[in-house]
Amino acid sequence: MRFSSYVSGMAGGEEAGAWAIHGTARRRQRAGEDLLVLSIGDHDFTTDQRIVDAAIESLRAGNHHYTPSIGFQPLREAAAAFHGKVIGETVGVENVAIVPGAQCGVFTAAQCVLDPGDEVIAFDPMYVTYLGALEARGATVVQVPLLPEDGFLPDPARVRAALTPRTKAIMLNTPNNPTGAVYPRETLEALADICKEHDLWMISDEVYCTMCYEQSHLSPRVLDGMAERTISVYSFSKSHAMTGFRMGWMVASKELIDAADDVVSSMMFGAAPFIQHAALTALTDAVDTVETIRERYRGRRDLICDALAAVPKIHVRKPDAGMFLMIDIRDTGWDAIDFAWKLLEEQGLALLPGEGFGKQLAGHLRLSYGASDETLTEAARRLSAFVQKNG
Ligand SMILES: Cc1ncc(COP(=O)(O)O)c(C=O)c1O
Repeated sequence: MRFSSYVSGMAGGEEAGAWAIHGTARRRQRAGEDLLVLSIGDHDFTTDQRIVDAAIESLRAGNHHYTPSIGFQPLREAAAAFHGKVIGETVGVENVAIVPGAQCGVFTAAQCVLDPGDEVIAFDPMYVTYLGALEARGATVVQVPLLPEDGFLPDPARVRAALTPRTKAIMLNTPNNPTGAVYPRETLEALADICKEHDLWMISDEVYCTMCYEQSHLSPRVLDGMAERTISVYSFSKSHAMTGFRMGWMVASKELIDAADDVVSSMMFGAAPFIQHAALTALTDAVDTVETIRERYRGRRDLICDALAAVPKIHVRKPDAGMFLMIDIRDTGWDAIDFAWKLLEEQGLALLPGEGFGKQLAGHLRLSYGASDETLTEAARRLSAFVQKNG
């Protein structure tokens, strides 16, 4: 049978080769091998009991039916209030759409604003699923490099050089996965100017906005003239350790949210009501969760950075936010994919080669510090032993 060119185009490539390490490690771990798998961004702990209980009680109370496709009113209200507090922008219910995860939010945003033949500026490296989400409408992704020597910050001059008459949107991700960079005001203002001058949308993935350690997060939405053209996407996955609940939200103009309503109706017809009740509890009752999680990750970030600081030939860039550490292994002379396979084979430690996120991360490995202190300490020991033997 014949598949769409969209689906056929998704398979293969260097990214897939890099991600194969994670798949292999997971399979071997499930088969009982003693491996440390730090190649994916999930938490090692379970969701707060109050949130879990809310889902169970909702199910027991008979919430088994359809809800409005972009979420029920109390949750949209709570998300609007959370946005006011965390992002510092007053929005109303009409600016919020509840979606099953930020992934769905990015996909929905792309469906709302892109047409076949449009170009979207995104960055290399980028979160791996953007390509599939942005290209689903037949748009082309134009990748602008983020360089290690620039601290992985977007260079507005390079963005300008990539513009064409077909450019329709910029896909932004701050705080960034995989680099851990938080984009400063001047970078965001320069990108905002480009959007305004060229009438572009900004699709802004801000799922790590509550996990900033030193610098605070700034949403492009709050910049002058940007609210009407920015579609921001948020998630419960990281801030509330709810990855498996599949719950997030979008904030945009009322007109965009109305369009998202149509897209969501035809794509999944809304999120499960008992999951929405869990999310409501996360925002209104278990409010301390956000800080607890952030502080736990701050400690883990410091632990792993300190533990790796003295390992020869590798360089770590302390992330400003999120749950990932980039390790620069270029001085070892190894190719990152070969390094990662051999590290898995010899030390039972799975890290993700940077190529999984784009060409600019060749020579880097991404380590997820979503793991206990003991696991991180042991991972640092194994990585150090590997470099001393093979580096
Ligand atoms: C940058 C970024 N955006 C989106 C997502 C997906 O979030 P969700 O679980 O809400 O779909 C992730 C998950 O790792 C991510 O890192």
